[in-house]
Amino acid sequence: MKITPIDFKIVQSKIKESGISKIGKASIREIKKLIDNIEMASGQKFIRMEMGIPGLPPAKVGVEGQIEALRKGVAAIYPDIHGIAPLKSEISRFVKLFMNIDVKPDSCMPTVGSMQGSFASFLILSRIYKDRDTTLFIDPGFPVHKQQHKVLNLKFETFDVYDFRGDKLRDKLESYLSKGHIHSILYSNPNNPSWICFTEKELQIIGEMSNKYNVVIMEDLAYFGMDFRQDFSKPGQPPYQPSVVNYTNNFILFISSSKAFSYAGERIGMMVISDHLFENHFPDLKRFYANDQFGYTMIFGTIYPLSSGTSHSAQYALTSILKAVNEGQFDFVDVVKEYGKKAHIMKKIFTDNGFRIVYDMDEDKPIADGFYFTYSYPGFSGVDLLEEMLYYGISAISLDITGSERHEGIRACTSLIQRSQFTDLDIRLKQFHNDHPIKD
Ligand SMILES: Cc1ncc(COP(=O)(O)O)c(C=O)c1O
Repeated sequence: MKITPIDFKIVQSKIKESGISKIGKASIREIKKLIDNIEMASGQKFIRMEMGIPGLPPAKVGVEGQIEALRKGVAAIYPDIHGIAPLKSEISRFVKLFMNIDVKPDSCMPTVGSMQGSFASFLILSRIYKDRDTTLFIDPGFPVHKQQHKVLNLKFETFDVYDFRGDKLRDKLESYLSKGHIHSILYSNPNNPSWICFTEKELQIIGEMSNKYNVVIMEDLAYFGMDFRQDFSKPGQPPYQPSVVNYTNNFILFISSSKAFSYAGERIGMMVISDHLFENHFPDLKRFYANDQFGYTMIFGTIYPLSSGTSHSAQYALTSILKAVNEGQFDFVDVVKEYGKKAHIMKKIFTDNGFRIVYDMDEDKPIADGFYFTYSYPGFSGVDLLEEMLYYGISAISLDITGSERHEGIRACTSLIQRSQFTDLDIRLKQFHNDHPIKD
């Protein structure tokens, strides 16, 4: 029996009880439940890095706007499916001020979390061309997007971008797109799980490929403005959030409120469709919908049957947040910088104890410190490392479930760990390192 920071027997029995055959392959929510159970049984606290929950309080201005709207009685009234007018205008203003792009308020809408925006988009994009049936994921990526494809019975292909950075990305994308079966491409930037950020050259390549093969680009900006190597916090002033929008007019942006504004609980996100795509007609849509215009079908053919719009009071919350952000009264980037500061310290604690950062470069530049980072330990696969580290009171997810081909890797989320836990993290990693000496 090994002596480990968390009672070996308890961890072992809870893993067995969970019924999960391979912990390292379990979903984020399954791991969360298992750790809740181990914590309860052992009375000890884990360093919890499995789930991307915001570790900060919700944007106050949003809470106030929402309460005020509720007091005025909006809870009784169905919201417009395409979103309330003031919110649509603020979203349009937000992308103008922080991305320097022009999108009409009509093409900007709230969704029930960015998750609904992607679900709705997958539904339509898989139907715009009868001879194209596949989404391409530039991975690693957020596992739930693939789960959405599975429940919708939609096809997808994926590749890990690790070995295809810079100019190499062009040939790699072309190898899929030239076959003619891809209707759209999805990636997140900054990337969940690896925190790589595409360089301007890479975004340009993606844009060029979109134009050449007439493919829609879905850019998931769940971590908007959070590449802290540059300051994207000033409305109307460069630098702007890097984006493919500068290179193609065939795009959908998913901008989550969950992390940038710590508003995950109210399930509200933004979907911004380029005016070109919104207004475009796709005759093949007529197979499923009365209307073949993309934007019209998105609103009345898709969001309507999915949820009939987004929570009325949450729309007022987001309107208040965006208004304050757009007017320069609320610096949301400054608030979330804490994640980057914690990542910097945590990465050092990991690497001082024999761990390695897996995704570590954006072409020739070290990646930013942010919401996530990835690590490995010599001699372990990510799946086995994840399970072994549970005995040391450290939880995360393996990169295996993210489409990564770096099978040695683990994703750590920096949001929930408190600075007061850094000493514990160091002690636990030191013991792990001592118990698992690295062979040369
Ligand atoms: C890349 C990515 N996309 C989408 C989401 C979900 O966003 P929302 O909470 O707005 O549905 C997340 C949340 O972790 C994410 O990391």
